[in-house]
Amino acid sequence: RRDFNIVVLGAGGVGKSCLTAQFVQNIWIEAYDPTIEDSYRKQIDVDGRQCMLEILDTAGTEQFSKLIDSITLLRELYMKTGQGFLLVFSITSQSSLYELQELREQIIRIKDDDNVPIVIVGNKSDLEEDRMVSRSKAFAVSQSWGNAPYYETSARRRANVDEVFIDLCRQIIRK
Ligand code: GTP
Ligand code: MG
Repeated sequence: RRDFNIVVLGAGGVGKSCLTAQFVQNIWIEAYDPTIEDSYRKQIDVDGRQCMLEILDTAGTEQFSKLIDSITLLRELYMKTGQGFLLVFSITSQSSLYELQELREQIIRIKDDDNVPIVIVGNKSDLEEDRMVSRSKAFAVSQSWGNAPYYETSARRRANVDEVFIDLCRQIIRK
């Protein structure tokens, strides 16, 4: 049985904790409770292999600005140990997509590897009427990142939630 260290990253409020809660516990959380850092374990079957996922749900990028030095240090630590990264934005926020750019650069720098398993996640797909990021805009980002897979998810509806974690595990297995 293999262990997989997965890190969930992205701006505050995009739905990182809700996606993780749906994946790990099959629950929907309506209230917003900003995260400092939480970790979860879940065993899943990926193409016939038993995989133990260690999932780190992190703080939104612009949060806790007074603690910026400790957050930066924490982030460097978990980027070092992370094997795969879910980079989450909300389709209702342009800036949340732009913030992923810097996170990706940081991952590549810290791991000293430009081929790190990454999945780009456009969450809140149920809020189509509030969409600010078109699919083609997100695909353009994916292309500029060497075709990192792009999924649109809804934590609320539990749409594509398992798929993003499984895609990431497959990338880690192939590595
Ligand atoms: P931080 O921990 O502060 O970085 O935020 P986060 O990215 O973990 O966001 P969180 O999962 O706490 O969700 C923030 C808010 O968005 C909550 O009120 C959720 O109910 C809501 N939300 C999360 N995912 C979805 C979704 O897929 N659709 C809709 N409509 N709302 C969502
Ligand atoms: Mg959170």
